[in-house]
Amino acid sequence: MAETKFTPRVFSGIQPSGDLHLGNYLGAIKRFVEMQDAGTHETVYCMVDLHAITVWQDPAKLRRSTRELCAGFIASGIDPEKSILINQSQVPEHAQLGWVFNCVARMGWMGRMTQWKDKAGKNAEAASLGLFAYPALMAADILVYHATHVPVGEDQKQHLELTRDIAAKFNHDFGVDFFPLTEPVIEGAATRVMSLRDGTKKMSKSDPADASRINMTDDADTIAKKIRKAKTDPDPLPDAADALEARPDARNLVNIYAALAGITPQAVLDQHAGSLFGHFKVALADLAVDKMAPIAGEMARLMDDPAEIDRILGRGAERAREITVPILEQAYDIVGMIRS
Ligand code: TYM
Repeated sequence: MAETKFTPRVFSGIQPSGDLHLGNYLGAIKRFVEMQDAGTHETVYCMVDLHAITVWQDPAKLRRSTRELCAGFIASGIDPEKSILINQSQVPEHAQLGWVFNCVARMGWMGRMTQWKDKAGKNAEAASLGLFAYPALMAADILVYHATHVPVGEDQKQHLELTRDIAAKFNHDFGVDFFPLTEPVIEGAATRVMSLRDGTKKMSKSDPADASRINMTDDADTIAKKIRKAKTDPDPLPDAADALEARPDARNLVNIYAALAGITPQAVLDQHAGSLFGHFKVALADLAVDKMAPIAGEMARLMDDPAEIDRILGRGAERAREITVPILEQAYDIVGMIRS
């Protein structure tokens, strides 16, 4: 399908399930800001609260985490005038198209999703139906904007492949050329930021060890302490990035440095080859504090005025619906629903 038929538009989302961390920032939010500032695409960024409730959420905490995520977006540089910033449940067309996609996607496709298998674990019978259908709603998030590009971390790749499968099946079943085959954008040094305690495990909010991640709300001292305590090995930094292949903890810290500094891992090694980790960690802690602590400060400031956050989200929803209402109308029409 010719991409030129569709307005260049970026969509991406993050779950407001608490504990935003450096992986979310480097793998997603920082990239969102770059794509916004490039000015080549319309940009729509979303707090996916409907996805968050696929597992139990305390209602008061969910409201707070949604506002905190909004504050995190803005503190990181998302400008609600330049981008459309929304909370998923406030734009009902996401859930409406999600239902249509529940009827397009196949059970077998969903059952193969590794995130479903990981999250449902051995007790799939007790998982919510929403958790199983999660990727169909994600496809709707993207396709209800006819989004052409979706920046995400590596763990979302399979969901984006499924989004393309759903778009292709819908187009094929109804004989239309209506939904774009969206391109995933998985780029840069930090598409998979690893745990600070174990370089073979993804940095994640579900890790019980707080020291395994840098939270976006951590203050300067906490950030520096976590980096000082990060797991490493006794060898000096090599002079070529290939030599980090078998050293996951070392590679993780080099990648984090590269992503924070906006340079390649090789450029980091050009500056630090031969350094021991005691030394390199000091430079990394300084850089991380420099980049992350002001964001935490700004998030706290924004959280002091929740009414302003709600106003921004209300305005975002209005702008979003200028795009989503006509697309949903057309999708319903294609499916055969009466529009009167
Ligand atoms: P979520 O909320 O788990 O994560 C949000 C974003 O952060 C990225 N990410 C990471 N990147 C690098 N290293 C890590 N350790 C790391 N951990 C998380 C994720 O890849 C993601 O980009 N299903 C999505 C939310 C979603 C969505 C969408 C995304 C719903 N609808 C539509 C894109 C488009 C999720 O659970 O992300």
